[in-house]
Amino acid sequence: MSVIEAVRWSPDGDGVRIIDQTLLPERFEERDMRTLEAICEAIQFLRVRGAPAIGVAAAMGLVVSLLHRAELPPDELRALAREHAARLAATRPTAVNLSWALDRMLARLDASSGDARALLAALRNEATALLEEDRVMCRRIGEHALELIPEGARVLTHCNAGALATAGIGTALAPIYLAAERGRKVRVYADETRPLLQGSRLTAWELERAGIPVKVIVDSAAGSMMAAGKVDLVIVGADRIAANGDAANKIGSYALAVLAARHEIPFYVAAPASTLDPSLEKGSEIVIEQRPRREIAAGFGRATVPEGVEVENPAFDVIPAELITAIVTDGGVHRAPYDFRSQGEQKADSRQQKAGRARAQGSRFRVQEGSQ
Ligand code: MRU
Repeated sequence: MSVIEAVRWSPDGDGVRIIDQTLLPERFEERDMRTLEAICEAIQFLRVRGAPAIGVAAAMGLVVSLLHRAELPPDELRALAREHAARLAATRPTAVNLSWALDRMLARLDASSGDARALLAALRNEATALLEEDRVMCRRIGEHALELIPEGARVLTHCNAGALATAGIGTALAPIYLAAERGRKVRVYADETRPLLQGSRLTAWELERAGIPVKVIVDSAAGSMMAAGKVDLVIVGADRIAANGDAANKIGSYALAVLAARHEIPFYVAAPASTLDPSLEKGSEIVIEQRPRREIAAGFGRATVPEGVEVENPAFDVIPAELITAIVTDGGVHRAPYDFRSQGEQKADSRQQKAGRARAQGSRFRVQEGSQ
């Protein structure tokens, strides 16, 4: 079975190739994004989605958006890069991976010298490093979280925190893939995840494709499934984790955590270090994206809410740290009391190390830097 690559360079290296996730499960179509507008639209409309994937896509998109400006004086290219990064960062507010990846791109720009071509080469190398690092982080999360998934486990997950949401094998789904790879029997319940159905459309699609048993349930079935003893553990991804361990994730995650606590079922959050936001003390400081009315009111291609009735459509909610049994990052399994302030420092240090490592590694689209 071929590997899912939710985001990668197009074969000519001049575009960002994504799987258009709005079309799944009916159609598998890849699209090459070649302009700033196309990348912003793809992120905003969730053609590419999931916190790590949008960070990587935005970083690569920044490169693509500047490719035809190689004749600009370096200062003008730098200014344009900042302008484009700001537009990309504004597409979705909740996942910190987006601004984190773009900040890294701008830091690389600041640390680079030479003409516009040299600056573009440096940016391309940084975006490629981000892509490669995300793959590695996913696998590490999977390795660490494997100890939490016993043989025969019946796992409930929400939204999609799998390969489609990252550049690798996912975060919440990473240990499921590794458990299956090692012959462990695991069964998954995928919450359908209203209103955009990432669970039923995407999680079910990618697990079925991998031959992992999966059943879709409507979101409101989770409580009675737990009460009936059909769920052994819950694992979800995250879009932003505050220093105290409060974690923002797809709307409905909070309710699931409350239900899991009520039924004494472990509730795990899996996310890479790029999802930690040590600048926020607690989850109430996280900005929650509000999505358009049509996602609820016309979600099935027909009116599902009377025309004159208002809707409220927050895309995420915050799981309080006290309801989280463990947070698994690429650095290991963390248990309460959580304190990701120091992790933030490590994140900053390891960023520089990783950038150095990635520079040393070389890659397919790596181009010569520093050429005048
Ligand atoms: O709105 P989406 O589909 O981008 O929301 C995605 C989620 O909430 C995921 O659980 C989260 O980004 C983690 S993905 C590894």
